[in-house]
Amino acid sequence: MKITAAITGVGAYVPDYVLTNQELEKMVDTTDEWITTRTGIKERRILKGENQGTSVMGIKAVQQLLAKTGTRAEDIDLLICATTTPDLVFPATANIISAAVGATKAFSYDVQAACSGFLFSLATGAQFIQSGMYKKVIVVGADKMSSIVDYTDRANCIIFGDGAGAVLLEPNTEGFGLLDQVLRSDGKGEQYLFQKAGGSRRPPSAETVANREHFVYQEGATVFKFAVTNMADVAAQVMERNNLSKEDVAWLVPHQANKRIIDATANRMGVGPEKVMLNIYRYGNTTNGTIPLCLADYEQQLHKGDNLVLAAFGGGFTWGSIYLKWAYDPKPDPQQA
Ligand code: UT7
Repeated sequence: MKITAAITGVGAYVPDYVLTNQELEKMVDTTDEWITTRTGIKERRILKGENQGTSVMGIKAVQQLLAKTGTRAEDIDLLICATTTPDLVFPATANIISAAVGATKAFSYDVQAACSGFLFSLATGAQFIQSGMYKKVIVVGADKMSSIVDYTDRANCIIFGDGAGAVLLEPNTEGFGLLDQVLRSDGKGEQYLFQKAGGSRRPPSAETVANREHFVYQEGATVFKFAVTNMADVAAQVMERNNLSKEDVAWLVPHQANKRIIDATANRMGVGPEKVMLNIYRYGNTTNGTIPLCLADYEQQLHKGDNLVLAAFGGGFTWGSIYLKWAYDPKPDPQQA
């Protein structure tokens, strides 16, 4: 019998501090009106405090996931963390998360694919389930973007936020779970969205700090152009390959980078706004956190058998789309009980 990798639970965490457009108006030359119309963002969360890395949010998301699914940490075989803002250059943030949650038998590693990292990690984790090798794989998407955002750069500081989400992958033999994927990358896009210093090519120095080279550098309009076309292309391709009509698609789960990119993807797929998961107005672009945070926010509206099309575009360039059939009906929300 064919084994597929199904998402069997979702956990999420966003920090308490809310950075509103109104507060940004006091920090840079911008307006709530410009940010709202150009991006769809109203506020984002920021992780404050000393020695608070991305793992802080990843740990909380995984702990919630384990509690919600009734899973014992020691039963986890593998934990993958998709992040662009690891706690440290090494070791991997996934190792830090595994140790903190007590996933003592899991091996763990990070995946770096910028905003497409969660999709690439989901596809990677699924292979270990589909092969029959492992039974419980956790995929985390987490980023503390505020640690690499220049809050004097008005074009970029308005879009990013901090947050984390995590999903559990388990074997399924009824045809639910990840069914297809189109994943792409093109290194020629490097120059349009990257961090200039801090890596091995240009290690940190007094000069790189003075030049503000440790922040996100983005040529927004160019990235926007590539994102609009490529994210829509792969989502449409996944639909075609699987003979999915717009009626067959229950939900588009898009990376939340800019509402206009999300709208273009939905239009290309022919799906209306009622089928599009959207929380960019609350969280901004949390990079690897966006897709699992959407799944967490909409979990109570998802039903067994729903066809979901996930899509993302990010630095690299990297982009992709995954088609999955949701594996469970809403469960009572433990927080409401
Ligand atoms: O998630 C990974 C992939 N990243 C993305 O998908 C992001 C894609 N890019 C974008 O979402 C958009 O390019 C941004 C939101 C980053 C910028 O929006 P834009 O519409 O592309 O603006 P722009 O950079 O082309 O700038 C247009 C104008 C400029 O003024 P002039 O030169 O026309 O006078 C900017 O200086 O808007 C100005 N501007 C702002 N004005 C008020 C840029 N940022 C701001 C701002 N407030 N925050």
